[in-house]
Amino acid sequence: MNTTASVTVIDHPLVQHKLTLMRQKDRSTNSFRRLLHEISMLMAYEVTRGMPTQLVEIETPLEKMQAPMIEGRKTCFVVVMRAGAGLLDGMLEVVPGARVGHVGLYRDPKTLIAVEYYFKMPGEMHERDAIVLDPMLATGNSAVAAVERLKETRPKSIRFVSLLAAPEGLKNFHEHHPDVPVYTAAIDRQLNEHGYIVPGLGDAGDRLFGTK
Ligand code: URA
Repeated sequence: MNTTASVTVIDHPLVQHKLTLMRQKDRSTNSFRRLLHEISMLMAYEVTRGMPTQLVEIETPLEKMQAPMIEGRKTCFVVVMRAGAGLLDGMLEVVPGARVGHVGLYRDPKTLIAVEYYFKMPGEMHERDAIVLDPMLATGNSAVAAVERLKETRPKSIRFVSLLAAPEGLKNFHEHHPDVPVYTAAIDRQLNEHGYIVPGLGDAGDRLFGTK
């Protein structure tokens, strides 16, 4: 794993291998979805590394002991609709007690600016560690807007998980949210004139849901 400033590139060979498969243009919707699911489980391992644990008393077959446990319900995965949904189930397999919030944003195709159309979080966000899920950190505009909105609920901490990031998106995100660590599987070369990450993997939502 390679960590600089507040970006962690999860360069585990399993993650990189699966990402390469996902980038292939002829990969089926079914396979793309399954790979994203698998990658999200692997990424969850790194993203939750700093999670607080509490000592609880348990009894082994031999004796009582104080052993660490995660308070999963204190975690809130925040899905940035719609592609963020592709990262959710894998994360929930690893942290099954987590709560889930949703942010709906669409990119205005002309301005590339994010417009909010849905926002629903669980209660007591001030007690929760929020992990925002959005596979493509492209311009960063929707990520910036999603985290800005999320901050209004005052979560205990915020982390941002993307599968792919563009340097432009990272810069934009860091300028607005230097306090939010980003986890990604790769930082690609650049954005193209349509705001797509290149080389990238195309439109993550369309590939995930088979809408194109
Ligand atoms: N959203 C995507 O799904 N893909 C990109 O390359 C950029 C934004």
